[in-house]
Amino acid sequence: MNKKWWQQSVVYQIYPRSFMDTNNDGIGDIRGIISKLDYLANLGIDVIWLSPVYQSPMCDNGYDISDYQAIAPEFGTMEDMDCLIEEAKKRNIKIIMDLVVNHTSIEHEWFKEARSSLDNPYRDYYIWREPTVDGHPPSDMGSVFGGSAWTLDPITNQYYLHLFDKGQPDLNWENPKVREEVHQMMNWWLDKGIGGFRMDVIDLVGKVIDQGITGNGPKLHDYLQDMHKATFGPYDVLTVGETWGATPEIAKLYSDPDRYELNMVFQFEHITMDHDERHGKWMPKKQNPIKLKQVLSKWQTELGNEGWNSLFWNNHDLPRIVSKYGDEGEHRVVSAKMLATLLHFMKGTPYIYQGEEIGMTNVKFEDINDYDDVEIHNFYKDYEPTLFSKEEKMEAIWSNGRDNSRTPVQWSDDKNAGFTQARPWMKVNPNYSSINVLAALEASDSIFYHYKKLIQLRKDYDTIVYGDFKLILPDDPNTFCYMREDDDHRFVVINNLTNQAVSLSLPEEISLSGELTISNYADVVPSNTMILRPYESFVIHQ
Ligand code: GLC
Ligand code: CA
Repeated sequence: MNKKWWQQSVVYQIYPRSFMDTNNDGIGDIRGIISKLDYLANLGIDVIWLSPVYQSPMCDNGYDISDYQAIAPEFGTMEDMDCLIEEAKKRNIKIIMDLVVNHTSIEHEWFKEARSSLDNPYRDYYIWREPTVDGHPPSDMGSVFGGSAWTLDPITNQYYLHLFDKGQPDLNWENPKVREEVHQMMNWWLDKGIGGFRMDVIDLVGKVIDQGITGNGPKLHDYLQDMHKATFGPYDVLTVGETWGATPEIAKLYSDPDRYELNMVFQFEHITMDHDERHGKWMPKKQNPIKLKQVLSKWQTELGNEGWNSLFWNNHDLPRIVSKYGDEGEHRVVSAKMLATLLHFMKGTPYIYQGEEIGMTNVKFEDINDYDDVEIHNFYKDYEPTLFSKEEKMEAIWSNGRDNSRTPVQWSDDKNAGFTQARPWMKVNPNYSSINVLAALEASDSIFYHYKKLIQLRKDYDTIVYGDFKLILPDDPNTFCYMREDDDHRFVVINNLTNQAVSLSLPEEISLSGELTISNYADVVPSNTMILRPYESFVIHQ
């Protein structure tokens, strides 16, 4: 496989609403991103994945788009967007756009036309069905956000499909005109000089509703191959698909370079492994470190040369990783560094979600009205009222609600964490007085500088990007240890996953002699049989 820039890059995800507000309306904006580009360049990232900034009524914070070629006024203007691309480019940072084309907003012109009459030329851009004889939805398909996936539109008395909120009607990808429109729009953005696309729930576009197929439909890969040909094929860009149900076999279908589809996908097996079969993240299972190792190492080895991994702990839909696998209290800093090392030494392209680089944590709002997310509110209002008490629902939201990652970035200990002078659209996490970027930049041993070093190490050693992966001590429930190696270098990566001191006993054939590359405690004395302190993590270079 030829080496590619997007394999050697580290991506930073920005959720614009919560990043930085410059005009003091309480909402993060594109100018705010521009104002922090030097900060990101200092961190060393190569690519920004920008969550949606398009025109939108914001029922799902921009994942409901009403015009793909316009910027939402609260985020700025198209001039601001052009300026962002240009200013980022000056710092060797590429911008990848969020491509949300499984659905539009209900306010998109196409949908307004489509719903107006049965014979409107846009009718077929969406998925419509007759009510049953007694007026019910055509099937019992459910929306990801709760309730039915069908909403009756009174104008024509037919139901339209929405796998997400009723404000997000699904596009009908079987209609070639829809695919053509999407291609044209993508080319318009590519012409602007963007660095690629992150493709929102792209595994759903091949759905065959009448057979009950949503993910990985029969035409999905044809559509992606057509898209590749019609749009980004000739460009040297990064493409990553969001594919919740992907197995390594499925991931290869997307990311095998010989198939001309995408560069890589986000797989979620390490996220969904602790979800309940029926109630998903709302009834999480007990964490299982052995399972985590099995899942992550399977992905490390199984793609081979027929695919490429994306590496992530966090995004705007997931709880904060220090809160999930680390410690919010005493061991916050060491645990955040351990988790960072664990991930960034793996094979693949790492993604950092805003605030992760300073160890931001989950938030516990007591009042449901302090939350914004449509998914959280639907869950709280309607979901299985006999199964969960309101208190249990709050607990579930505290551990897995999407707003955990959407509180404003904590820039300083000024009012509102330096995010805005006004009332922020969502409350800041009260811990901003100690956890903030300014404090991180001032402390040479902060989580920030640990990330910065990890990013630099990938630039210094191709072995970290491309080397072979080998899990060590697969059955040890306390540690996550592995090696990365090629002809030139070997790195041995040792991590204690627990908040306890645990004993490490490495087989004799694994040596820990060599240079200490990075660690989260100052005074490490590596030895095959040693006591690892809580969340202790270090890497030896041989
Ligand atoms: C993806 C996005 C999520 C959004 C959903 C619908 O999963 O990451 O934020 O709500 O798609 O667009
Ligand atoms: Ca603003």
